[in-house]
Amino acid sequence: MKIAVLGSGGWGTALAMVLLENGHDVTLWSYNPAESKVLQETGENPMLKGVPLPAELKFTADMACVAGCGAVVLATPSFAVRETARKLAGLLTHGTILISVSKGIEKDTSLTLTQVIESEVGEDFKIVALSGPSHAEEVGRHVPTTVVAASRDQAAAELVQDLFMNPRFRVYASDDVVGVELAAALKNVIALSAGVCDGMGFGDNTKAALMTRGLSEIARLGEALGGRKETFAGLAGVGDLIVTCTSMHSRNRRCGILIGKGTPVPEAVKEIGAVVEGYYAAATAKALADKTGVEMPITEAAYQVLYHGKDPRVVITELMTRAKKHEIEESWV
Ligand SMILES: NC(=O)c1ccc[n+]([C@@H]2O[C@H](COP(=O)([O-])OP(=O)(O)OC[C@H]3O[C@@H](n4cnc5c(N)ncnc54)[C@H](O)[C@@H]3O)[C@@H](O)[C@H]2O)c1
Repeated sequence: MKIAVLGSGGWGTALAMVLLENGHDVTLWSYNPAESKVLQETGENPMLKGVPLPAELKFTADMACVAGCGAVVLATPSFAVRETARKLAGLLTHGTILISVSKGIEKDTSLTLTQVIESEVGEDFKIVALSGPSHAEEVGRHVPTTVVAASRDQAAAELVQDLFMNPRFRVYASDDVVGVELAAALKNVIALSAGVCDGMGFGDNTKAALMTRGLSEIARLGEALGGRKETFAGLAGVGDLIVTCTSMHSRNRRCGILIGKGTPVPEAVKEIGAVVEGYYAAATAKALADKTGVEMPITEAAYQVLYHGKDPRVVITELMTRAKKHEIEESWV
């Protein structure tokens, strides 16, 4: 199948390579023409050091590459998804499947990214969200990886399974698009917070607590917004949370570590040198929690540290000294 991958960061490039290995005709589009030139000339993406780009991979900075494609993968940072979908809209061929692989929630609208895409391209196109525990660096090195393809349309989700699946890349299908997308976006806030705790020198106990209670609040908000509880216990939920909270590949965690060690937030975000989605997601998640009335103490704490310069030490004490709770909200009712 002819496929365009839009966004030549680490993730777009790694997925383009999976598709190419599966025999597809793949073009990798770069936002920045200079970036496209570097990829072509060096045969390597600086985000995937040591991974040679296959000779068959085509490069372009011209969005016209989407014409005639059976599938288009949107792999830009979340803040650029609307702009990219808008550019696409007039160029798409009828029947093209759109695959959203970015992780975030739109800042001003609180829409998930497939909702953003749909609002730009219209309801005629089938859209699939692909998400799960998957570092680009590891996919690039053929490390066995599993993800989930979620769509309201079963045939579209199953087509995405067929496009991507190979012995090192396994794809499950799901109909819970909202759950998968919210899990993907919200876990980045927890990963950043886990990094802050690591940077402050706290141990495994703290991180396990943060991940467990973090997942609990992600699921609470996700369910309130229409996601399914089981999704948060799945690959896009706990799976991705584990990978981002524990790995040095996670830029969200690395950004948190810098903040925990005392680097001012804007400097820490800049120093990472790649998109830190958890920073943006903290503000949108806080807005969604306020709007729905869902209690999200860890997300609120992260928001205060990231946007209001609150001292992480104060925040941890506040979290630890909140009023006593039942672990399971429905206990003894
Ligand atoms: N890296 C991973 O392991 C990974 C895994 C799963 C999902 N994701 C998600 O994929 C998305 C992209 O991440 P990445 O790691 O590839 O990012 P990256 O930081 O490696 O690259 C960002 C890319 O976005 C491009 N870009 C910048 N501004 C743009 C704009 N206005 N319009 C279009 N493109 C623009 C840059 O040129 C660059 O190619 C993020 O939402 C991320 O959360 C990443």
